Amino acid sequence: MSGVPAAVTIVVHAPEETTALAAWLGEALVAGDLLLLEGGLGAGKTAFVQGLAKGLGLTGAVKSPTYTLVHEHRASLPGRPGLGHLDLYRMPEGRDLGDLGLDDLLARGAVAVEWGGRLARREPDALRVAIEGPDPDAPPGRRRIAFAGRGARARALVARVEAYAARTASP
Ligand SMILES: Nc1ncnc2c1ncn2[C@@H]1O[C@H](COP(=O)(O)OP(=O)(O)OP(=O)(O)O)[C@@H](O)[C@H]1O
Ligand SMILES: [Mg+2]
Repeated sequence: MSGVPAAVTIVVHAPEETTALAAWLGEALVAGDLLLLEGGLGAGKTAFVQGLAKGLGLTGAVKSPTYTLVHEHRASLPGRPGLGHLDLYRMPEGRDLGDLGLDDLLARGAVAVEWGGRLARREPDALRVAIEGPDPDAPPGRRRIAFAGRGARARALVARVEAYAARTASP
């Protein structure tokens, strides 16, 4: 496995574009995939997870799990993974994600973690998704979404985002 991280950045202009991009990624997710989401309050992390769920064919509503830390959306289609959704914004200092059952969630599905930078343990194979915005000097729906990772699965997902960018690029 190469030590050079793979990375790609996409600029979107509306929540629907964030959801569409995330749904495209969600279609490709497999059990064990871990996405660590970063971005300030209201950046669109939960909106991104809603798109992932849509791409996975999960029909239940995705809400922010802020008060519970963990939501699990069990697979509804045979052979497709479920989705674990964590939000570490209010996670007590020093608590390890082992306590939250991360390994069990990864065994059953893909997992997306809001405020993923707060993970105590290192996750070298994770795909990092950093959402920048809103920017007071830019249109309100504009976000820069940067994807990066080193592990084999993260690299494959970065390549899928690159394919999305190529598909949606204006001629
Ligand atoms: N391009 C965009 N992508 C995502 N959300 C957008 C975009 N443009 C505007 N929005 C709006 O920004 C808000 C994003 O809210 P969301 O709950 O997804 O943010 P969050 O990053 O999860 O915040 P928190 O840190 O509070 O969990 C929504 O109201 C959404 O409609
Ligand atoms: Mg959120």
